Amino acid sequence: MADLYGIIGCPVGHSMSPDIHNRSFKDQKLDAVYHRFHVEKDQLGAAVNGIRALGIKGVNVTIPHKENVIAYLDHVDKTAAEMGAVNTIVNLDGVLTGYNTDGPGYLESIKPFLTSPLSEMKCLIIGAGGAARGIYTALAHAQTGRIDVANRTKEKALAIIQEYDAAVPGRTLSLEEAECHLAEYHLVIQTTSIGMSPNINDQPISLENISEGTLVSDIIYNPIKTAFIKDAEQRGCRVIPGVGMFIYQAALSFRHWTGKMPDIQLMESVVLEKLG
Ligand code: ATR
Repeated sequence: MADLYGIIGCPVGHSMSPDIHNRSFKDQKLDAVYHRFHVEKDQLGAAVNGIRALGIKGVNVTIPHKENVIAYLDHVDKTAAEMGAVNTIVNLDGVLTGYNTDGPGYLESIKPFLTSPLSEMKCLIIGAGGAARGIYTALAHAQTGRIDVANRTKEKALAIIQEYDAAVPGRTLSLEEAECHLAEYHLVIQTTSIGMSPNINDQPISLENISEGTLVSDIIYNPIKTAFIKDAEQRGCRVIPGVGMFIYQAALSFRHWTGKMPDIQLMESVVLEKLG
């Protein structure tokens, strides 16, 4: 019988994870199949017990369960515990361990674009939700020189900076302050939901003050190029669209489950095919 994997979340209807994982299982000649499981908030505990009962080998966890799922697991890896969020569960003989591949996946996705070590870079994260926290933790682990966080609700930005144990240089800004100080940064990371399909013309801040050559990334991958990314490109910035993070978080989940790294280019082609 094929090994069973899947994604639990609500909504999960539009997730492209089944497409990329099923193609990768086939490519790696693994007898496995990946399904979508729509799980409402009040069914999360039952769903996690279902993973054990049915012998599902591994799942991805998405909105709105990434934080709450931790309470139902047997172990949580250190990085995921620091992030307070799990996006990958491995089931080893009924023992469930939670990992987070969002932050590490983001780091992998920007590596090819870096021209100096992160320790010498000043970064600005726009947004202070779960995705921002994962990226903040990954950048902090990688000894990034400075990490500022800008958010509409400044207290949430402060919470991210304060929750992290080791002192990392950085401060919080309002979105308006971020607009004024853009020229200070080497890397600007857009993590809010602004600009996501269908609201494809929206962007969280104006890039008027950004310097040419600044690295600008957006974690939204639908559309492939957000208004924010297009604006940055027009201003002579180097851009990193969100599809890279999506692919790498999936690839790292795949490796947790199978011990093998999938073909990144194949995964990317599946997403690009689907989003055109
Ligand atoms: P995720 O877990 O995917 O990061 P989230 O926790 O809902 O999602 O966080 C969404 C982020 O987008 C937050 O930083 C949010 O700002 P607030 O903390 O002030 O709510 C930001 N965001 C969403 N809609 C926004 C809007 N219209 N203007 C400014 N920021 C917005």
